[in-house]
Parts: sequence; C-alpha cells; structure tokens
Amino acid sequence: MKSILITGATDGIGLAAARLIAADGHNLVLHGRSPEKLEKAVDSVSAISGAGAVEGSLADLSDLAQVAAMANALAARDEGLDIVINNAGIFQASDPVTADGLDVRFAVNTLAPYLITRRLLPRLPKDGRIVNLSSAAQAPVDLKALSGEVTVPDDFKAYAQSKLAITMWSHALGVAHRDTGPLIVSLNPGSLIGTKMVKEGFGVEGSDISIGANIIYRSALDDAFAGAAGEYFDNDAGDFGPPHPDALDAGKADEVIRAIDAVLARVLGG
Ligand SMILES: NC(=O)c1ccc[n+]([C@@H]2O[C@H](COP(=O)([O-])OP(=O)(O)OC[C@H]3O[C@@H](n4cnc5c(N)ncnc54)[C@H](OP(=O)(O)O)[C@@H]3O)[C@@H](O)[C@H]2O)c1
Repeated sequence: MKSILITGATDGIGLAAARLIAADGHNLVLHGRSPEKLEKAVDSVSAISGAGAVEGSLADLSDLAQVAAMANALAARDEGLDIVINNAGIFQASDPVTADGLDVRFAVNTLAPYLITRRLLPRLPKDGRIVNLSSAAQAPVDLKALSGEVTVPDDFKAYAQSKLAITMWSHALGVAHRDTGPLIVSLNPGSLIGTKMVKEGFGVEGSDISIGANIIYRSALDDAFAGAAGEYFDNDAGDFGPPHPDALDAGKADEVIRAIDAVLARVLGG
C-alpha cells in the first residue's frame, strides 16, 4: 500500500485517477484549491476507497506562499508519502497575472510542481515516484515570461511554454536522481481529453477521461515505468518518446531551473 499525493484532484483526470488509485486501497492525499470541491472529492473518493485513508490538502497553486506552506506541511507528515502526482494545471485565464506578478500558467503548471517536488524529494523513499503532467503542447520557454518580466500574448503560448518548462526540469531532475531515486517522469496524458479544461478552453467535447486517468494510474504504480527515470511518456503515441528537443538540452534545462530558483527566491525570500 502506497501513500500518494495528487494535486488538482478535484476535477478532470486527477479526480478520475484518484478514484482508480483509491479502489486499489492506497492512501491518498487529494489536493484542491476550493474547499467545497475538495470536501466533495474527499467524500466521493473515500466512498470507493478500499482499506486506504483519504485526506484533503488545500492550496491555491497560483500563490507560491500557499504552495510552500502546503509542501512544508506535507513534508512534515508523520505518515510520509511515496508518490507525488503533479497533475494540477491551468490553460485559460481571464486575468493571467498572479499576485506574485507571474503568468498563472507558469505559476501553476511549472513553478508550483517544481516547489512541491523540491520540498518533498528528500522525504520520498528510493522507490518513490514523482509524476509530472506535461502535454503535447510544448513551446520554447521565454525566460523573461517565466520570470514575469514580460507577458505572454495568448493562452496557448503561455500554456505550451509552461508545459515544456515542466518537461525540462522533470528530465533534468529525473536524470540527476536516476541512481538514488525517487523516479521522476513526465507525462502527456493524451490530447483533448474531455475535461473542464478542454471543454472550456477548446470548445470541444474531447475524448474519454479514463484515457488520462488510466495512464496517470500506470505511471504512478505500474512496473513498466520503474526504469523510466527522466523519461517522457507520450500517451498520444502510447509509449515513451522524445519530448520537445529543448527538454533534452542540459544547458537549456539548467537555464530554466536557474530562472525558476530565482523566481522562488524573489517571491518567497531566501
Ligand atoms: N485534458 C487534456 O486533454 C490534457 C492534455 C494534456 C495535458 N493535460 C494536463 O492534465 C492535467 C489535468 O488537467 P485536466 O484536463 O484534468 O483539467 P481540469 O479538469 O481543468 O482539472 C485541473 C485541476 O487542476 C486544478 N487547478 C487549476 N488551477 C489551480 C490552482 N490555481 N490551484 C490549485 N489547483 C488548481 C483544478 O482545480 P478546480 O477543480 O478548482 O478547477 C483541477 O482540480 C493538467 O496539468 C493539464 O495541463 C490535460
């Protein structure tokens, strides 16, 4: 039995994956930003849980101080965690600039999972896993946009840059922890899966949510992922595959990581 954190577990493929994992009897920490949606998710997942415990953890991931507080609280848990699934993500935003002065896509899709990963990594066991939700949409990262110094002109560009950025740091940290663990992988769960994000952002019904939920479940728990440190699984192809070439460029990944560390130091201090 594993203890598993899923961020963005109040809707979409994160909630559906939580149901699959709960049915296996694992312990779950479900993260959400809305108290009402989180309570509902915990109740509904608890109802189908096997022997495992289900608890909630609240934080708006567009606010880095809240991300840090949540990550610190989770790192301090006596029960510990084995697996972290960085699933929460955002595509469309009417007001894209956060109170920290960042584009909300970079804040939620890139910086928050990085901060959660950094704070929880030392607490995870060697055979633990960190699964980072990427996307087929990946575009070269403008470091000034990531740092909030310039705005990104449209939702898709911001989203695609934020998703390449998470794929880049995921690959770099995954390779760095290949021998020591935990395993770090990134994952395109499949394109245009019919969640709130896709229905509202792209105006299409999209495909079955189980496509994304099943691959999240497998990436967290299946032995087939056990040797995949630093790799990128592309569920559109149904296999591991190359991400955008920038994700495999150690120099560019290092620049992205240094830019992220600088933003975190500026916003959080220290
Ligand atoms: N659907 C697809 O076709 C597709 C394709 C490629 C990648 N992905 C990725 O898969 C992941 C899940 O997406 P989805 O399609 O399931 O979308 P979704 O249905 O919109 O779910 C997104 C989840 O993230 C949470 N979230 C968003 N902004 C947040 C914030 N500021 N703080 C805390 N939580 C926040 C949402 O909370 P609320 O419930 O409060 O809104 C929700 O739980 C994302 O990383 C997405 O980029 C999806």
